[in-house]
Amino acid sequence: MTEKMVKLTIDDQEVEAPEGTLIVNAAKMIGNDIPVFCYHPKMEPVGMCRMCLVEIGRPVKDRQTGEWVREEDGSLQIQFGPKLETACTTPISEGMVVRGNSKKALAGRKDILEFLLTSHPLDCPICDKGGECPLQNLTMAFGPGQSRFLVDEKYHLGKHVPLGELIILDRERCIQCARCTRFQDEIVDDHVIGFFQRGRGLEIVTFSDPGFDSYFSGNTTDICPVGALTTIDFRFEARPWELMVGASICPHCPVGCNTSLNTRREARAQGDVVIKRVMPRQNEKVNEIWICDKGRFAYHFAQSGDRLVQPMVRRDGELIPTTWTDALNTAAEGFKASSTGPNAGKDVLAIGSGRLSNEDLYNLQRFSTGLGGRSVLYTSMGGGDLVAQVGVGQGTNFSDMGPGTTILVAACDLQEEAPIWFLRVKQAVDRGANLVVVNPRTTKLEKYASQVVRYAYGAEAQTILGMVNTLSAKRPDLGEAAPAASRDGRINEAAQSVSRAENLVIIYGSEGTGLESSQALAQACANLL
Ligand code: SF4
Ligand code: SF4
Ligand code: FES
Repeated sequence: MTEKMVKLTIDDQEVEAPEGTLIVNAAKMIGNDIPVFCYHPKMEPVGMCRMCLVEIGRPVKDRQTGEWVREEDGSLQIQFGPKLETACTTPISEGMVVRGNSKKALAGRKDILEFLLTSHPLDCPICDKGGECPLQNLTMAFGPGQSRFLVDEKYHLGKHVPLGELIILDRERCIQCARCTRFQDEIVDDHVIGFFQRGRGLEIVTFSDPGFDSYFSGNTTDICPVGALTTIDFRFEARPWELMVGASICPHCPVGCNTSLNTRREARAQGDVVIKRVMPRQNEKVNEIWICDKGRFAYHFAQSGDRLVQPMVRRDGELIPTTWTDALNTAAEGFKASSTGPNAGKDVLAIGSGRLSNEDLYNLQRFSTGLGGRSVLYTSMGGGDLVAQVGVGQGTNFSDMGPGTTILVAACDLQEEAPIWFLRVKQAVDRGANLVVVNPRTTKLEKYASQVVRYAYGAEAQTILGMVNTLSAKRPDLGEAAPAASRDGRINEAAQSVSRAENLVIIYGSEGTGLESSQALAQACANLL
């Protein structure tokens, strides 16, 4: 179905955008950034901060005839509302005229900023958000040059309030935009923080024990438009402008979230470059703009004193630090010894990682086969080879999954094993995708599933084969356990649910599985596909 397009004018520029687009987003299409605080493109608009106030004019219709009223020159007559309106909650309409830079709109913006700053501590010089703070930037761009409020008259609130082990709150910096609470409610579905009290005394509090108990809490510090929420890890560690930014990929789980490593040289690391923080890097096909707390905070191993930073050779049972030349010679002697004699090559096994470059893998393979041994790509083990053959192809995007897609999650606690996929599967279900969970114990994901199948640990492959059996004619090749499993009513229902999918995606995990059972599970999933 083609989208209906709507034409309007924003700050004297014509824009055409799909019906239903919010003014703030239509403006963005022509490079016009209407300032916002509470609006966030990943969440429902709430119109709480009023920073995006604009003048909006709409074409006038004659009430009696239903015809558009026209000016003498034939153009549509536009009537502007008496008050400013929020660009973040108002959808565009045909012929609309928006003024974001008029005297009235600019005065509105200035007033809102002055109002937000009445009780703001203005402690930018010691605020961790300083240098990358939307409130600071928008105050510089649109705010009043001077405050009419005395510091002593300001409403003071707690400045060092840990919400949990990872996140700290400065209560008087909060501008009550609710981005953090909406993120936890809408995106994560962990209702662990919320508003308490009213008016200027309103505060963010945590309801959970332990505090701010969520795997995704760090994201609230990215989207908080002020320095109210910051991470305890980065607190007072560096100023943003001192940091170098390098693109990276999170190494902690299969999602491979895109990240930016913020680094700088430090005296306490003897002048070495150290990671100061890990930030999400936008990739709409992988992690959108989010990362989990493991990806954000589990980087300190890079500076661990236990890290291997120089070659070592085991002599008389002891690992002895040595030079590269000595270490390489010792390794070469060991390989030479294994490649001669009656067992030549049998003791040589090279295990390669799928993260190596093709050139490195080629050299590794030449090296091991040259010695009469063999090499194994560990990412092909445990079913990895089948994933390469029948798994999702390049360009697969969670954002496209909705009605017609069924996602089967088997033997996997997705929030533990691949946290961002948990969010993405949940969002796909929110858009209308069907979710089937097959797991030996309860997981958080089940809440969103239409079908849940429970099995005894170790029976994951048989359970999936039971689904295959339900859907196909008698299959003697499916093994003995499959017919018994397929008699289970829940398996039948899950199988029927899967069979109705126009698009089936299977995520299999490692809940209670080892290498062999993982291979069997992957084979069963491949059969089902
Ligand atoms: S803590 Fe930050 S994100 Fe949360 S309501 Fe306050 S200003 Fe908004
Ligand atoms: S989900 Fe978390 S652990 Fe996995 S890649 Fe993303 S940030 Fe890293
Ligand atoms: S950004 Fe529109 S009201 Fe906050």
